[in-house]
Amino acid sequence: LNGSSLFVVSNREPYTHTRQDKRVNVTVPASGLVTALEPILRACHGTWVAHGSGNADAETVDIHDRLKVPPDDPRYTLRRIWLGREEEDGYYNGFANEGLWPLCHIAHTRPIFRTSDWEYYNKVNKKFADALVEEIGSEEHPTVLIQDYHFALLPRMLKERLPHARVAIFWHIPWPNAESFSICPWQRELLDGLLGADLIGFHTQAHCNNFLHTVDHVLEAKVDWEHFFIERNQHRSSVLPFPISVELVEDRFDARNEISAEEERSTLLLELGIEATFLGVGVDRVDYTKGILERFRAVESLLERYPKYQGKFTFIQIGAPTRSRIKRYVDFQVEVKNEVERINARFKRGKWKPIVFQNREHTHQEVQRYYRAAHLCMVTSLHDGMNLVAKEYVAARQDERGVLILSRFTGAARELHDAIIVNPYDVESTAEAIAQALEMNVSEMADRMRRMRRSVMEHNIYWWAGSLIGQLCSVRLRQNRTN
Ligand code: G6P
Repeated sequence: LNGSSLFVVSNREPYTHTRQDKRVNVTVPASGLVTALEPILRACHGTWVAHGSGNADAETVDIHDRLKVPPDDPRYTLRRIWLGREEEDGYYNGFANEGLWPLCHIAHTRPIFRTSDWEYYNKVNKKFADALVEEIGSEEHPTVLIQDYHFALLPRMLKERLPHARVAIFWHIPWPNAESFSICPWQRELLDGLLGADLIGFHTQAHCNNFLHTVDHVLEAKVDWEHFFIERNQHRSSVLPFPISVELVEDRFDARNEISAEEERSTLLLELGIEATFLGVGVDRVDYTKGILERFRAVESLLERYPKYQGKFTFIQIGAPTRSRIKRYVDFQVEVKNEVERINARFKRGKWKPIVFQNREHTHQEVQRYYRAAHLCMVTSLHDGMNLVAKEYVAARQDERGVLILSRFTGAARELHDAIIVNPYDVESTAEAIAQALEMNVSEMADRMRRMRRSVMEHNIYWWAGSLIGQLCSVRLRQNRTN
């Protein structure tokens, strides 16, 4: 960072304080973005600006709305932004999650664009710009990393007020093709806002290409396909891929692994009050883009095709409730529960059932136990920028056991070639992939897991942050030379 201070902006905060009776609890929300960025902020200090969404958040900050986190080992500053109910509904539930989320995921949920949501999206982006300008103060060369689709307008707003700031935005979700994107009534404004940044990052080259095509179609701008930058009004924005990752550093001994997968399995099964020989696991927010129903139907198809797994194979779905003020998500929760009930009613016997649905938030430590106990992990997103569950599962398997079944529509599938890659829309082939995983011999399993672990280790979260920040610095230097 060359002495420059780091500012990260995201909608979701890394720690949420909630009050339950007289106690205030702190939780880490289920968010791929938070999982990825938290180790960076711990390592680099700096300031994280985010929406204060917990009902006890206001009680824990100082008069400038700041607090030091992590709560048990303070390393960096969290600056909370307060949003009223209407702002949250318009900007977050409305424009970001009923508009941009389905627009970019192409998951057959029709995006909804309301003018009032768009107005709140503008207003809240401006509110974050004001807070950032305040936090940055007289800092000469701040480095600002803006996170995600909640803030497409923020790079431009910031650059207009702080031309000396180095600004990057990282888009954690896919970017669709130009024609799909064009249904958004405010596509020009979104693109103009994003092009305020010096660097625009996506997980994959394919998403960069979609973005470059979109700009080419919509705006008067020079798109350089050789060096991947866009020039407009004498400003250059580089558009590059930075596949995000997790914190796997090296294969060092971890005392928790003294517990073998078998032991972990037996204690988990006891706690769940069920009997099973083979376990599969899925960990998601209950989101319609994650392919949860397709996954359950694949489990059902496995039990039909291979009756020998009836009474033996159980799939545990950890499903954190999410975005519960949006109708599509409320409906989806019900669909998922109904599907679990239908499949269980069809097959269950004695103390065995095919699907266990744990519909609540789990801590990182709890999830680790499931990862270590499961014979296989299923990531079947219908479309996903990266998907960090895939990498977390690999990181958790120090014992080099376990098989990853991974949707080809995730960014992670471009890196984890040793997973069993599936098309989640093809239920029968996904069922075959489960059978293949359950029947895989130990040496093939270990070879595949070893190679995947090496790949995650070589490109871990520090590599991601290092390349993003390094690139941002070099972009500016090049510009300074040519100006
Ligand atoms: C995805 C998005 C993140 C978001 C997370 C959880 O990973 O890219 O920006 O934080 O989902 O969603 P939520 O709406 O609860 O923040």
